Amino acid sequence: MDDETLIKAAITARDKAYAPYSNFKVGAAVLDETGEVHTGQNVENAAYPNGICAETAAIAMMVQQGGTRIVKIAVSGGSGDMLCTPCGGCRQRIREFANARTPVIIADNTQLKARFTLDELLPHSFGPENLDQD
Ligand code: THU
Repeated sequence: MDDETLIKAAITARDKAYAPYSNFKVGAAVLDETGEVHTGQNVENAAYPNGICAETAAIAMMVQQGGTRIVKIAVSGGSGDMLCTPCGGCRQRIREFANARTPVIIADNTQLKARFTLDELLPHSFGPENLDQD
């Protein structure tokens, strides 16, 4: 699947964001190993720390629908020069189902802004295979 198609899915999901406190809507789209796309959006909460990020919502959808690997993920947030890169916690959540070379595509409200590998965003990461050592 090309980047533009995944970005469009993230932008569509972003429209559904519930972000009355920050007014910063984010959408995410995950392409899994079967070719399915799973989307999510941020869902804030009056008890602020209980809000969840778009990437977290999209990953939960992937798991619910039987996906086990993130092949590529697109995030749409903001509209200017600032890149809406995943927060630290979401980088780790992506890490669980991805590998060092997995593309993380960053878009604004209309188009591609930057392309990273997961390893660029989360170098020297800790993942499931670390637990295989004793
Ligand atoms: N947010 C995301 O959903 N994903 C990101 O990559 C960055 C931040 C959300 C969390 C919060 O609802 C709002 O954006 C402002 O931080």
